[in-house]
Amino acid sequence: MQEDRIFSPFELKGFRLRNRLGVAPMTRMSSPGDSIPRQDVLDFLVRRARNGAALVYTEAIVTDYESAQGYPGQARLVTQRQIDAWRPVVEAIRDAGAVSIMQMFHCGRIAWKEINPAGRTLAPSSLIPRDPNHLTGKPYPVPDEMSQFDIDHVILGFVETARGAIAAGFDGVEIHGAHGYLINEFLSAYANRRTNGYGGSVAHRYRFLHEIIQAVAPVIPADRLLTVRLSDWGVVDMDVSLLGPQDEYQELIRRVSAEPIDAISVSTYDFREKAFGTDRNMSQITREATHLPIMICGKIYDRATVEEALKDTDIALSAKSMLLNPNWVEEVRQGRPLRPYSSAEADIAYTETPLP
Ligand SMILES: Cc1cc2nc3c(=O)[nH]c(=O)nc-3n(C[C@H](O)[C@H](O)[C@H](O)COP(=O)(O)O)c2cc1C
Repeated sequence: MQEDRIFSPFELKGFRLRNRLGVAPMTRMSSPGDSIPRQDVLDFLVRRARNGAALVYTEAIVTDYESAQGYPGQARLVTQRQIDAWRPVVEAIRDAGAVSIMQMFHCGRIAWKEINPAGRTLAPSSLIPRDPNHLTGKPYPVPDEMSQFDIDHVILGFVETARGAIAAGFDGVEIHGAHGYLINEFLSAYANRRTNGYGGSVAHRYRFLHEIIQAVAPVIPADRLLTVRLSDWGVVDMDVSLLGPQDEYQELIRRVSAEPIDAISVSTYDFREKAFGTDRNMSQITREATHLPIMICGKIYDRATVEEALKDTDIALSAKSMLLNPNWVEEVRQGRPLRPYSSAEADIAYTETPLP
């Protein structure tokens, strides 16, 4: 019975997830000044673990103090104070029976200079998105095309942040390669026009992510998790397919699957949507190209959508339902009638209003 699949345990490397439902990563912009999230934002994650989520992702944590930040008030995890702030959160999530994963990212060209102390924005190529920045209303600034020094330096930021997560006790670390941010920009011919070994073929566009994974993996102990998140869409220029066509996407998935990682997290806008002009969705197309566990996300909001999403994947993540409905896991279990939430409703995430 499908209901059993949702609430049946799943072995993710050494971790036994008590069900197939997780809190998707959600930026909260609550960390101005010291890059430590507000206490109520940290407590929110613990409450979702206590209310039954098997897996709890952090917001996207920024990997350096120079060019990685994409939004005001994002968190970091490289100082002892930041590590000390997360440690009790991680312990409480574990005590509640859930697994914790720190997600880390570099925003690439989806940024503006004022919010990064170094006053720079970086990207594989000096190209801006077509859409303006919806927070500032202005066009994005033209990014610096990353030099080899920049590339090596940015990779070190991922390594340091992963070390911070391990020091804080997280069960795992995720490399955020989705949503049109820096890694996704390298992966996509839409933003990457380089001809110097980091651009061109899928293999060359993949090189940056490969180097990040290879640098991060050695700092992840054997009993912790390393995951990668990917998406075919970005937060700006949303209509553009970033990783297609299908054969290029599946080549990417095969390359990622050959790395020392434990799961692939696929972010969609709507998991049911057919992808790359085929009659199959992202879960099905990803499943064909990997034996790794797959997490899927995107408009999963009630028992029927969870069941459908788990047909081709192993774990269903929800952002908006987990954000706005504290009893979501239990209500999925009961098969209660539930509705999808809108992005406008989720904007409460960025306010000081404490969530239930
Ligand atoms: C408030 C909010 C913040 C988000 N921040 C992140 C983030 O930091 N990292 C990330 O990978 N995705 C982020 N997302 C995307 C979600 O993880 C998810 O992929 C998307 O909302 C679709 O899932 P849903 O339909 O369940 O909301 C965010 C979404 C919301 C609503």
